Amino acid sequence: MSLWLFLHLLGVAMWMGGGFSATAVSLAARAEGRAALATVARLQWAIVRSLVFPGSLLTVVSGLFLTFRLMNGLAMGNGYLVTMQWLGFVGALLALTVLVPTAAKLTRIDPMGEHAAFFDRMRARQRMTGIVSGVLGLIALLASAMYRYGG
Ligand code: HEM
Repeated sequence: MSLWLFLHLLGVAMWMGGGFSATAVSLAARAEGRAALATVARLQWAIVRSLVFPGSLLTVVSGLFLTFRLMNGLAMGNGYLVTMQWLGFVGALLALTVLVPTAAKLTRIDPMGEHAAFFDRMRARQRMTGIVSGVLGLIALLASAMYRYGG
């Protein structure tokens, strides 16, 4: 049980930490010219590939194992636990199905070339998905703290 909880917390740390790092890179990139956006996209992909992707996957898989272990237990109907499970699940799904492919796609588009408008659209999608998935993850984190110690 503690191994799955450890993997769950490691997944959350990687996913949220990666998300915060990618956001920090994004904010720093605002001071750079458009030519730097290709490098920024590659750096963000490195963060997404090595932290957000494995982290969100680990969070969901370990969360499912923890849920199977708790099945039929008293905690199962706990509102905070259910909030963590569902918001965490949707947030991770969004990261895995939209954010990760979009971040990968951005590394293959030239921000200065003929597909500059497409690059901007993909960047806006990456930003929006990152915000929604990150907020869901943060609410799940808040719910997990409330689950143990109450409101
Ligand atoms: C960003 C998303 C998530 C965060 C931040 C998060 C965070 C946490 C934390 C901090 C704990 C430890 C709680 C404690 O023992 O005091 C925990 C436990 C747990 N989480 Fe999550 N979690 C997330 C997603 C999920 C998902 C998607 C599932 C299920 C599919 C899930 C199922 C569980 C279960 C069953 C436990 C064990 C509860 C217990 O043993 O009493 N979590 N989670």
